[in-house]
Amino acid sequence: MADVEVWVADAVVLAQQAEPLLSTAETERSARYVSVAARRLFVLSRALQRLLGSAYLGVPPERVEVDRSCRLCSDGGDHGKPYLRGAAGLDYSVSHAGRLVLLAWSSACRVGADIERLDRRLDPGLLGARTLAAAEQADLDALPAADRPARFLRLWTRKEAAVKLAGHGLTVPLASVRVDGPTACLAAPPAGWPAEPPMLTTLPVPEEYTAALATTAAPRVALREITDLAGIGLAPARPADRRDAGPGATI
Ligand SMILES: CC(C)(COP(=O)(O)OP(=O)(O)OC[C@H]1O[C@@H](n2cnc3c(N)ncnc32)[C@H](O)[C@@H]1OP(=O)(O)O)[C@@H](O)C(=O)NCCC(=O)NCCS
Repeated sequence: MADVEVWVADAVVLAQQAEPLLSTAETERSARYVSVAARRLFVLSRALQRLLGSAYLGVPPERVEVDRSCRLCSDGGDHGKPYLRGAAGLDYSVSHAGRLVLLAWSSACRVGADIERLDRRLDPGLLGARTLAAAEQADLDALPAADRPARFLRLWTRKEAAVKLAGHGLTVPLASVRVDGPTACLAAPPAGWPAEPPMLTTLPVPEEYTAALATTAAPRVALREITDLAGIGLAPARPADRRDAGPGATI
């Protein structure tokens, strides 16, 4: 089993405390957000990457460097999956939605994570045609109309978690990634896709949300809620309570 630590934090509560942890460039970028909610998520996400990186690496937060250059395309643009410089073997993935920031970290496997609010206004009929495989769409259509949005979002988070694992993101057509089983399967995987299909795990997040984790090995998940940034600092990250979210749990 591969240990994966999943951290969840509330941006409404913690963004202000997180601000001093940003770099100058991040502070400048945060000031350009029009939406207060999006700004809070950005601030907390970037601060937590630095703070948790500091805890995992055992270095001061200001020495944590995040590399966002794309390793999958020739331009090396800053649209790649983030990695910590000097931390070979430590992988992490970030997602934010509503007021929550979720980060999954592991030094035992590669990880991808995604979280969405369940009350997101969307039309599963319209979106499904572009993002679901035929069998996934048929299962969705067979459900009562009221149950379709939640089911669609569960499929969506599993797909996004899988495509974030290696850094492809939405450049992989989501309809080509089947996630209605315990793994994410593609008929023709793109360059850089893991050799074994990523395993999918539904994460136990607050009930207004749905979240998924993709991993390259069967995960043992420790879920931790961050209520105060002061508790993270340079202390080694150790799970206080381990809750096995169940690898390959059904959706
Ligand atoms: C990655 C992506 C799916 C994120 O989806 P989203 O719904 O916008 O946002 P989420 O909240 O779920 O995730 C945001 C986080 O994804 C991470 N991320 C960004 N690019 C990523 C990538 N290529 N792979 C994995 N994770 C990525 C970042 O950590 C980001 O949070 P941060 O900016 O606060 O650090 C989407 O932005 C995307 O597809 N980007 C393009 C990726 C791309 O062009 N890849 C090039 C392949 S050649």
